[in-house]
Amino acid sequence: MIRLENVHKVYKTGDVETAALKEINLTIQDGAFVVILGPSGSGKSTLLNVISGLDTVTSGVITFDSTVLTDLTPEQMTAFRRDHLGFIFQQYNLLQNLTVYENIQIGADLSSKPLSIDELLEQVGLASARDKYPYQLSGGEQQRVSVARSLAKNPSIVFCDEPTGSLDEDNSKRVLELLERLNEKYGKTIVVITHNTGIGAMADDVIKMNSGRIVELKHNPVRQAARDIHWG
Ligand SMILES: Nc1ncnc2c1ncn2[C@@H]1O[C@H](COP(=O)(O)OP(=O)(O)OP(=O)(O)O)[C@@H](O)[C@H]1O
Ligand SMILES: [Mg+2]
Repeated sequence: MIRLENVHKVYKTGDVETAALKEINLTIQDGAFVVILGPSGSGKSTLLNVISGLDTVTSGVITFDSTVLTDLTPEQMTAFRRDHLGFIFQQYNLLQNLTVYENIQIGADLSSKPLSIDELLEQVGLASARDKYPYQLSGGEQQRVSVARSLAKNPSIVFCDEPTGSLDEDNSKRVLELLERLNEKYGKTIVVITHNTGIGAMADDVIKMNSGRIVELKHNPVRQAARDIHWG
């Protein structure tokens, strides 16, 4: 379980202060599928970055089970991130001179308990693209490679910042179906940032942000299947 208590984040650029997160209180349960919505600049990426230790908080406490993340040294936080967290971004960030298999291997090498790369390739529907290079793949296929790479180290939580931001509806739904399967079959905690309000229907919990605050928390008693999401 991840818990944020009274988290604030202020960015200082010269004389300008931007309060990117204000009074954030939030609990993310193990195995939850969480979607974060909100307009541009509302603090979604900042929230994800402070939870995952990519950025520091200005005040407040973040805990993961019994570990107080906000008390860890940068080295300890890096180790925590390596052992527990996976990331998927809008940009696929694949290494162009490595094959699909080798790109996924990079993720696996980070872990003492990696998943089988061939099995992951099956799961993301790219077994036949194993020896291709990223430039030989479509955008949707590249994003599925980056999903496989982030999963290879077998993280317990996967953070996704606009994972479908560069994809059309069909490819977006394939990526979302993958996330859904990870959550349902493997019990991974999934946190997805998106501008697409339709994606909220597949979550257990939907967090709406505005101007650095959580303005709405909604629990869905029933989750919609990724393939049935209304695309708007
Ligand atoms: N490194 C930084 N330095 C200064 N200000 C920043 C920094 N990162 C973000 N901000 C500011 O903090 C606020 C929240 O930014 P954030 O990136 O979290 O928004 P977002 O909700 O992810 O937006 P988008 O949907 O456009 O990605 C914005 O006003 C932004 O300009
Ligand atoms: Mg963002």
